[in-house]
Amino acid sequence: MSSKKMTIGVLTSGGDAPGMNAAIRAVVRTACDYGHKVVGIKRGFIGLLEEDFVEMDAMSVSDIISRGGTILYTSRCKEFMTLEGQQKAAENCRKHGIDGVVVIGGDGSFKGAEKLAEQGIRTIAVPGTIDLDIACTEYTIGFDTAVNTAMEAADKLRDTSGSHERCNIIEVMGRTAGHIALWCGIANGSEYALLPETYNESEIDKLIAQINEKTKIGKRHHIIVNAEGIGHSEEIAKRIKEETGIDTRATIIGHIQRGGSPTCRDRVYASAMGSRAVDLLHQGQTSRVVAFCHGEFTDYSIQAAMEMQKTIDHNFDKLIHKLSR
Ligand code: ADP
Ligand code: F6P
Repeated sequence: MSSKKMTIGVLTSGGDAPGMNAAIRAVVRTACDYGHKVVGIKRGFIGLLEEDFVEMDAMSVSDIISRGGTILYTSRCKEFMTLEGQQKAAENCRKHGIDGVVVIGGDGSFKGAEKLAEQGIRTIAVPGTIDLDIACTEYTIGFDTAVNTAMEAADKLRDTSGSHERCNIIEVMGRTAGHIALWCGIANGSEYALLPETYNESEIDKLIAQINEKTKIGKRHHIIVNAEGIGHSEEIAKRIKEETGIDTRATIIGHIQRGGSPTCRDRVYASAMGSRAVDLLHQGQTSRVVAFCHGEFTDYSIQAAMEMQKTIDHNFDKLIHKLSR
């Protein structure tokens, strides 16, 4: 435990996620409690390179816990991928007396945090992504809000799908991961979820056969969840229409999943993770990632976290098929 007063930087990087503001608030207020100074770094790693810093105090994060997005802005930064960029960022930290940085973002941002740590600036990563695609943690900031947004959209589609006796495909985000699609598949009582982790060439044939079979036994409309990582929702809809005769529409809900006021879970977990990140810096730790595993908050070295592999819950996948009619 260090008694030295530090200056802690905080940034958000990669795709924004509801709950990032709650994490920023927790970083700032926990740091203030320890008596450390806080500097907000604007637009992720770009702000580190351009010295776009703002001093933050406990009051500067008032009224943000319920807001989606990130008050610090976010970006993707190519220059930071280079060694020269990383050296410049570390140099700017030293110039402004920044001893440690909390990086809130996805696994790309974690790699950035690790690179900054290699340049001598202490870093702690906090998982902030709607995709839930980080192997070391069962929770990532924003997933809960995003999946609820997607679920509500699919509920609305169910109404119109039923009225018109159609097949509706809803495409949800997740980059190459199928967690949002899988959870929506169960929560919306959909009959099929197309997931990048299990997708194979014959899957659309299987889906069409299933639609035909269920239509024969009296099913009057169909909800299919498709993951962004598979995409081609319009083409899939066209094929279903051609091969089943059922009017089929595709809806890609897109970026609305990234916005909105965070759910209670996202606010609470983001607060706990942001606060823990500062505890770790205060203890003198570096290159760690905060995680939630087996019912408790914990942390791993970024390197160990990056070596872990995430997959979808296959029991959940089976559940969709077991419960659909
Ligand atoms: P996410 O953090 O949501 O996964 P990205 O993969 O787009 O998003 O990464 C966000 C940013 O993190 C990148 O734009 C880049 O600045 C930084 N980053 C990603 N990978 C690396 C890497 N290998 N080395 C250094 N920085 C990286
Ligand atoms: O990582 C979050 C996410 O929303 C993914 O689900 C999606 O693939 C990607 O970001 C889209 O990113 P953007 O619109 O910022 O380019």
